Amino acid sequence: MSLASSSFSTAVTHSDFLVSAPGRVNLIGEHTDYNQGWVLPMAIKRGIQMQVRRRSDRLALVQSEKEKQAVHIDLTMPISPGPLAWGRYVEGVLAGYQNLDWKIPGFEARISSNLPAGGGLSSSAALELATATAIETLCQKSLPPIERALLCQHAEHEFANVPCGIMDQFAITFAQAGHALLLDCSSNAMTHIPFDSSSVVILVINSGVRHALADGEYAKRRAECEDAANWLKVPSLRRVTQKLWQEKGSSLPELLGRRVKHLISENERTLAFVAALRASDWKTAGHLMYASHASLALDYQVSCPELDKIVELAHVIPGVYGCRMTGGGFGGCAVALIEKNQAKQIMVELKRQYQNSSGITPALFLTDAAHGPTVTALN
Ligand code: GLA
Repeated sequence: MSLASSSFSTAVTHSDFLVSAPGRVNLIGEHTDYNQGWVLPMAIKRGIQMQVRRRSDRLALVQSEKEKQAVHIDLTMPISPGPLAWGRYVEGVLAGYQNLDWKIPGFEARISSNLPAGGGLSSSAALELATATAIETLCQKSLPPIERALLCQHAEHEFANVPCGIMDQFAITFAQAGHALLLDCSSNAMTHIPFDSSSVVILVINSGVRHALADGEYAKRRAECEDAANWLKVPSLRRVTQKLWQEKGSSLPELLGRRVKHLISENERTLAFVAALRASDWKTAGHLMYASHASLALDYQVSCPELDKIVELAHVIPGVYGCRMTGGGFGGCAVALIEKNQAKQIMVELKRQYQNSSGITPALFLTDAAHGPTVTALN
């Protein structure tokens, strides 16, 4: 249940703590997670903060500084999905722990965030993981991290109607400072890849176009991939070898063929990018980012004119190695790999040129690879 205003701080006991959960940027490996492929995200130095106070009753009252509606939940009752609203992410996670028979005590939470909502930086997964971390802190026990991440993914499927893959929740749960996370979405095997940031830095550029995954295109891509896998008689597109592609690729309907082409090449690019990262070969890494963007724009068709414009502008700015859309697409952010000592000029130039061509003032920020959720006692 969501109420316009709620009476906070009535039955509060002293157990204040602060949960911080980062957002993520995906360096490469886009739309591969739900095809059992490879992804390479990293947590960023922006995220969600949730200040939590325990209550002596069984009510959960959750407010976000960015939203008018507060979430008001009676934890003695089963929680079920309702119409889409920001609070569904919180409710979905609470419901997940309820389904595991956890007795969640009442609490109040106030949320603040410096992640752009709809920016493709996983503000939803950050909220889910912040909620999960708060619940586990309140209950003084914890789920194995993989189960926690999967519970959050399930919450997003059931309560937000987005059939997302596992990348975002894993990227946040398992994030290590200074590292990107290579995740094999077929086996859930993870490798932390050191990101040598002595001479380069990651730049995130918000196109200012809000992306919305629940509006159907994301689910459509997923369904097309399933159709293509059935056509090729493989359990997932991860299993399409070059040999199978050479033999059967031309028999696929044109559109499905383009989707498969993206998947095969994006998996290869992701592994090649990891090798480039390990060798601090920024030029190669940058080329792979541009190639990834082209494939997402032309074959997978999940970019938009504004993201294409950012990538096109970045391409000719000195000091930029590579740039691509990041996340689900259809708006949101681009990510660029740039020379650290030219970061300031690059940001000024990109901002000015994008503003001139699109009329939108983009928000840009630099980030290193951050760590996962943390809990800080407040008293
Ligand atoms: C969204 C989803 C992820 C992933 C990306 C695309 O962020 O939540 O699971 O599919 O899109 O790579």
